[in-house]
Amino acid sequence: MRAATSSAYGPPDVVRVATLPDPAPGPRDLLVRNRASTLAAAGVAARTGTPWFARLAFGLRRPRYPVLGGEVAGEVVAVGADVASIAVGDRVTALTRMGVGAHAELVVVPADGAVVPTPHGLPDVDAAILAAGPLTALPFLTDHARLRPGARVLVIGASGCVGTAALQLAVAAGAHVTAVSGPRGLDLVRALGAAEVVDRTLRDVTAQPAGAGATDGTRYDVVLDVAGAASYRRCRHLLSADGVYLTTVPSAAILWRTLRSARRTHGRRGVVAFTGLRSTALQRATLREALALGSSGALRAVVDQEYPLDRIADAHRHVEHGHKAGTVVVTLG
Ligand SMILES: NC(=O)c1ccc[n+]([C@@H]2O[C@H](COP(=O)([O-])OP(=O)(O)OC[C@H]3O[C@@H](n4cnc5c(N)ncnc54)[C@H](OP(=O)(O)O)[C@@H]3O)[C@@H](O)[C@H]2O)c1
Repeated sequence: MRAATSSAYGPPDVVRVATLPDPAPGPRDLLVRNRASTLAAAGVAARTGTPWFARLAFGLRRPRYPVLGGEVAGEVVAVGADVASIAVGDRVTALTRMGVGAHAELVVVPADGAVVPTPHGLPDVDAAILAAGPLTALPFLTDHARLRPGARVLVIGASGCVGTAALQLAVAAGAHVTAVSGPRGLDLVRALGAAEVVDRTLRDVTAQPAGAGATDGTRYDVVLDVAGAASYRRCRHLLSADGVYLTTVPSAAILWRTLRSARRTHGRRGVVAFTGLRSTALQRATLREALALGSSGALRAVVDQEYPLDRIADAHRHVEHGHKAGTVVVTLG
């Protein structure tokens, strides 16, 4: 089989397409012919080994996992002797362990892992996207934020992989969403239901005077910063009395500032959370929910650009640039 591999940390060209031996499923595994995966900011961190703490997970001096990629969407081509729940020919969507190994034509997935049937009629490209951003946005918003009709939500980095999912989920919950995006994503975030749109190159939402809050004078119940562009301290004055600042980006500075500021504030909270630490059962349940929402049309899978496996280095270059409108998909076979 062919796979995108890298043996050193570095620029996009360290990722090359190579022919590797076909993997063999164990007795409790599935072998999946992978049709689509995604490449997001986390994949760039794994490829470059930055920030430094990424190396604690991916290898200190060189990549511990040569094949990157966290989502698998395709068809089961073999099952282990002990697998009864899934058969050859079934279409499945899965998350790989550690978010690696999916940029390959064949992927072994444990049958009791984060794997679910792909809903009938849902294309593999959409399934891969729904297995990416929503797997962070759904638990962030349900576990840490109180979304209710009329809630004021500010999404910073709304046009990217996690942001497009979070924006749509908040709108579907009846929230009044203000989306912060670069110029390329403005039309997209409007189309996804943002009530207010801020071009971040023209205005810094965090620079409003203390107490000013949302643009119409009220404050935000949730600030979701998926770009890691702000901090709890910089957003605190934008929050309602029990509002929460949530970020997906665990930079040491944001972590430290968030913790320090949170200690001194009552009611308002700053939270840095990590979806990778969730149990397999929770990930499987969220994956099922995300695919169901996508299949019913409640959640749109937004493609920024598709790259065939042969152009994997171009995909890395594009994602490294950081200004996306949707999710970058890697197609296989
Ligand atoms: N904690 C967790 O469990 C977890 C899980 C998944 C992802 N993450 C992290 O979450 C972050 C976002 O991931 P992603 O996959 O959604 O990335 P992404 O698709 O690249 O989206 C990031 C978005 O941020 C915007 N952006 C870039 N610089 C900005 C700035 N200075 N101010 C405001 N917006 C800015 C970009 O669009 P514009 O430049 O056009 O505005 C882009 O659309 C990454 O750092 C990733 O590692 C964490």
